[in-house]
Amino acid sequence: MKVSIVGTGYVGLVSGTCLAHTGHTVTCVDIDTAKVDAINHAKAPIYEEGLDELLEKNVGCRLQATTDLEAAVLDSDLTMIAVGTPFNGDEIDLTFIRQAAQQIGEALAKKDSWHMVVVKSTVVPGTTEDVVLPLVEQGSGKKAGADFGVGMNPEFLREGNAIEDFMNPDRIVLGGIDQRSLEALQALYAGFPNVDILQTSPRTAEMIKYTANALLATMISFSNEIGNLCAATGNVDVAEVVKGVHLDKRLSPILEDGNRITPAFTTYIEAGCGFGGSCFPKDVKALSAYGSKLNQPMPLLDAVITTNNAQPMKMMEMLRAHHADLAGKTVSLLGLAFKPGSDDVRESPAIPILDALLAAGAKVKVYDPIVKSLPGRPFGTDQLRSSDSLAEAVADSDAVLLTTRWAEFEALPDLLSACSNPPLVVDGRRMLDKSDFARYAGIGLG
Ligand code: UGA
Repeated sequence: MKVSIVGTGYVGLVSGTCLAHTGHTVTCVDIDTAKVDAINHAKAPIYEEGLDELLEKNVGCRLQATTDLEAAVLDSDLTMIAVGTPFNGDEIDLTFIRQAAQQIGEALAKKDSWHMVVVKSTVVPGTTEDVVLPLVEQGSGKKAGADFGVGMNPEFLREGNAIEDFMNPDRIVLGGIDQRSLEALQALYAGFPNVDILQTSPRTAEMIKYTANALLATMISFSNEIGNLCAATGNVDVAEVVKGVHLDKRLSPILEDGNRITPAFTTYIEAGCGFGGSCFPKDVKALSAYGSKLNQPMPLLDAVITTNNAQPMKMMEMLRAHHADLAGKTVSLLGLAFKPGSDDVRESPAIPILDALLAAGAKVKVYDPIVKSLPGRPFGTDQLRSSDSLAEAVADSDAVLLTTRWAEFEALPDLLSACSNPPLVVDGRRMLDKSDFARYAGIGLG
């Protein structure tokens, strides 16, 4: 199948590269010439595990990038919309979706054969049928259903695991306005014969995507609330509490041989310094705003955000309990990415923590294995420095704040064991063993 994809963010580029790898001929479209050039040189403009290798294998044969949306649409059977859908403070911002739909419509005005238009971006229910479909009709002068198909196919990719998630999906959700649209979507995923496919309407597909993310985000805020209560109670460690909860056979089923399955889901029921990234915060806010628009308030989801916004400052509270005055103190901040395996700092809990440290007059040494700069916060000043290694970052520090679960940070006990005056370690991910440190504080432990 010939596929064009509008938007080469992490969803569009990963989808495009993986679809090319399964045998389709794919053209990625972006207005950013630097991104287009990078892709055509088999260089990913973002960091994503395995993406460069897969680009290398497919660029030049089944995969290319262009800024020419019209040519890409005309030379394909199916166009996927994978542009950004930010939250603008009040609701989901559909500007890029509208632009893409309009331009695809205008291109389709010049095409004689039937074409399939699919929304991949995360959009609130109704967007595909009530916004995209009419704009494509308007631009093309054609009729949805008769001249072109319309569908919604949400993505379930985790940053850092996106290639693995795409190539080994747990589900494929296909929302189509009619049978022909659904058949076109099935053909797109013909390379995944043994996967559970759910065929439904675009509206339901849109709702599935939001519900999936809202559930995971809710689990995290729930666990963080319990963790905060454990810390306030004293002598109760949320890690132990969660262990006891995880042993519920409905959460970790017991097999016939007595062994247990530990579903990946259970990690979302662990306390930490909060969720970030480009998905959970924006999706939960967008879903709640969508509810309000329909006179259906979502107080639970609002609380998920409120709890999450407050969570990074729990790290500061723990730090201040040991160092009331942070002025002139040297603090190491370990981890800037919102999660390990990613260079994405969007909504990362590390950012408000960094800002609070700077505001309190601390001298901050940051270290992240991948992120080496932060927009608006220049490194290299007396107050804010970036370290080249973990060892350099923690040397001569008064306190070490761990905000991202990078595996490399497991070396901390060894690194700090030689210190005559070991720093306080504040573990925002509860990834280290408290007994390995002279001075340790952790989320849900206090
Ligand atoms: C999330 C979903 O997991 C994907 O299924 C979905 O497709 C994607 O959003 C999306 O909508 O595009 P992602 O944001 O990449 O994926 O990352 P997650 O690994 O789910 O983590 C999200 C946030 O929750 C991170 O800040 C992470 O640190 C935090 N988190 C994650 C926890 O606090 N605890 C956990 O156990 C897992």
